[in-house]
Amino acid sequence: MKEEESYSFGAAEPTELSPEEFRRAGHDLVDWISSYLAHPERYRVLSQVRPGELLDTLAPDPPERPSPQAEILADFEHDVLPRAVHWNHPGFMAYFAAGGSSPGILGETLAAALNNVGLLWRSSPALAELEECTLRWLGRLLGLPGHWFGLIHDTASTATLHAVIAGRQSALERAGRSGSELDLNRIVIYTSAQAHSSVERAMAALGRGFEACRKIPCDDRFAMRPEALRQSIAADLRDGFQPIAVVATVGTTASAGVDPVGTVAEIAAEHSLWLHVDAAYAGPAAMLPEMREHFAGCERADSFVVNPHKWLFVPMDCSVMYTSRPESFRRALSLVPEYLRSGDHPRAVNYMEYSIPLGRRFRALKLWYVLRSFGSERIAATLREHVRLARLIAEWVDAAPDFERMAPTHFSLVCLRVVPPNVTDAEIDRANEKLLGAVNDTGEFFLSHARLADRYVIRVAIGNIRTTEAHVRRLWELLQRCARSALAP
Ligand SMILES: Cc1ncc(COP(=O)(O)O)c(C=O)c1O
Repeated sequence: MKEEESYSFGAAEPTELSPEEFRRAGHDLVDWISSYLAHPERYRVLSQVRPGELLDTLAPDPPERPSPQAEILADFEHDVLPRAVHWNHPGFMAYFAAGGSSPGILGETLAAALNNVGLLWRSSPALAELEECTLRWLGRLLGLPGHWFGLIHDTASTATLHAVIAGRQSALERAGRSGSELDLNRIVIYTSAQAHSSVERAMAALGRGFEACRKIPCDDRFAMRPEALRQSIAADLRDGFQPIAVVATVGTTASAGVDPVGTVAEIAAEHSLWLHVDAAYAGPAAMLPEMREHFAGCERADSFVVNPHKWLFVPMDCSVMYTSRPESFRRALSLVPEYLRSGDHPRAVNYMEYSIPLGRRFRALKLWYVLRSFGSERIAATLREHVRLARLIAEWVDAAPDFERMAPTHFSLVCLRVVPPNVTDAEIDRANEKLLGAVNDTGEFFLSHARLADRYVIRVAIGNIRTTEAHVRRLWELLQRCARSALAP
């Protein structure tokens, strides 16, 4: 009997697709994805919809009967797709890229097919050991200390929350050893005024509120000022607060600023504070020898986060956290119920003991697919090309009398603004808001903004695997053209 004939319809109608139905729908879907990725530029990168538009389009009631696969795909194309933002579009230069690549899609698909849930090693030895292997590879590519333990989280925000929990655990244990007490209602952490909001939110999640995260002022390159960090710690100690951790950033969100990690590490060591480094965006640049200087001091960190789902061509979600002190995470979070007890074997890692979620996705599979498909040489060449493209834009901006670069271009992010002559700061801000809107309205590019030194700046974030020099040339042309009309009286 053929596979498609093996199901009979009637009272006990099968729920699952038949293998033949799946094969056909799968082929259609892969064809669709392949053509989507081949021509992302046929879409406007930023969708033009009003809030509620898709909700008003979709059926209000849940479907009672099965829909044919072809119909579902057609509805996706007709209803959902026009309201999507095309993160895979080469003109997507807002935020930081979510680096989708076709091998990443293949790895993600296989992960869904296997549907392994990593609880303990025994629940999927493949998941546990592929995670260990790929993170060892990645650690080597980034030049991180070989003994660091790595694990994959969904996002850097989750990784940072875990780092602060481990820092708190370490402080609790240190206080215990010295016969003193850590007052959990007085704990504080430090990060720069340019750090990602996830750092403050970690303290909110721990019940201490945003203000228990001290925002240390930055210098004119948007890097944390170490002497201000020292002063803030001293003031807190004087006032009876209990510092537990510092979070330094290599590649801040607004401007890709780089904190002086080595000096911050010294200060952290003087006060026995946990040092977490957030390299969520810029971390992959450590693959390039010429970029290593930005990571000096990171080897002294207690934990370090890098997002392959930003600038390493792995689709969302894949955030890698490394730590030199995995036991602090385990002692803070390990609680193994009877049904999950298994014999200990020194080579069997039970990742559930190091993080809050019990079940983990097989994210290592997409990282493995990407690393295997491209190899480190091609990945490094692409990162280097992105840095070159960013520097090209930076050069054009620097040479244009009516434009201004607003931050150093360390990696692949350029912060710029147009400066109309003889107008107030507020008017300059408004002109740039208008310029950003005009460029985004073209549908060819999606840029975002930030405030740096209290000025409105336009961010151009290169990081998409499909972005080429032709795209950045076109963007510069548009920026200049839109600036002329944005500045017209
Ligand atoms: C420096 C930095 N850290 C952390 C994050 C948060 O990343 P995630 O969305 O993975 O939590 C971002 C997001 O852009 C970021 O730029």
